[in-house]
Amino acid sequence: MAKNLMRAVQYSKYNGGAADLKHAEVPIPSPKKDEVLIKVEAASINPIDWKIQEGVARPFLPRKFPHIPGTDVAGEIVQVGSGVQSFKVGEKVVAVLGNGGALAEYAVAKEGSTVPRPPEVSAPEAAALPIAGLAAHQSLTQLAGLKLDGTGPQVNVLVTAASGGVGQYAVQLLKLANAHITATCGARNMDLVRSLGADEVLDYKTPDGVALKSPSGRKYDVIIHCAQNIPWSTFSANLTPKGKVVDTTPGFGTLMSVAAKKIKCSKKQLIPLFTSPKKENLDFLVKLVQAGKLRPIIDSKHPLSKAENAWAKSIEGHATGKILVEP
Ligand SMILES: NC(=O)c1ccc[n+]([C@@H]2O[C@H](COP(=O)([O-])OP(=O)(O)OC[C@H]3O[C@@H](n4cnc5c(N)ncnc54)[C@H](OP(=O)(O)O)[C@@H]3O)[C@@H](O)[C@H]2O)c1
Repeated sequence: MAKNLMRAVQYSKYNGGAADLKHAEVPIPSPKKDEVLIKVEAASINPIDWKIQEGVARPFLPRKFPHIPGTDVAGEIVQVGSGVQSFKVGEKVVAVLGNGGALAEYAVAKEGSTVPRPPEVSAPEAAALPIAGLAAHQSLTQLAGLKLDGTGPQVNVLVTAASGGVGQYAVQLLKLANAHITATCGARNMDLVRSLGADEVLDYKTPDGVALKSPSGRKYDVIIHCAQNIPWSTFSANLTPKGKVVDTTPGFGTLMSVAAKKIKCSKKQLIPLFTSPKKENLDFLVKLVQAGKLRPIIDSKHPLSKAENAWAKSIEGHATGKILVEP
């Protein structure tokens, strides 16, 4: 390969799916003043990556075609911008990319979106953290108001799709709060979700799972909703009078439910999540992994040369934990 070129995966239009991911040789990006250039060791896929390809953020994202997708990377810094203060060449890091670029051999990240990766945290573990881990963290702390140091009051929490990228982190982070955890997942993942810390687990395909009914008869103070297409009436029947649902996939139905509840003056709340990645929260998650208090579950690893398989697997919606791509 010619000097200054790298392998990357990109797409050039909306709605092409996995088949439209093309392998290309493109120039290695140059870091701007406040950016670092990372040699990627692992990247992870999030559903938002292929939803952007489907046009969910049209016309704002992608900013231009062809687009190299992916936001979550772990790797080694090989170049720093002139204004970068906190990193040096050779440091291992994990970063959230603001404008894609993860499915490549090299990626540029803002210094303010990059955190150090200690040796105890592998590149795949680190790459599995950013968007899914930050979504779970923000849902529990900022939106549900829970404290992750166990000093808050005892709460009953339901996590739906606890076997997925976000749900696995929600369950594990809830172990740090003073929470009794009920979780839903498919039958094949019930033991895994118990091992992550859930106190009771429901198979989402059973009648009780569909009804979100706690086996011990608990009502939920908080529901971290990581699945889709569950009507408000099902949540409402299982919530305490001031219970909250944090919806990770807010759509038109969520917004209509929020409006309808305002009209009825219900004290129950439906709160949409829009993840706003924060460096200090990513650093918190990395340190939890380092301390052995958080264990990223990896569904599968795919070489960059087969990134389309990782993409297709994420679109299928049956990952257990995170799907990774490695150059
Ligand atoms: N708003 C934001 O800022 C934000 C941030 C991050 C993620 N999200 C969204 O959050 C959602 C979850 O993301 P993710 O990365 O966790 O997805 P994911 O990893 O693709 O989720 C897959 C998992 O969900 C399980 N599942 C599917 N339907 C279920 C149901 N009805 N009940 C229980 N489990 C079910 C699947 O189990 P089976 O294989 O057994 O079916 C599978 O293990 C996505 O829609 C994503 O776009 C939003």
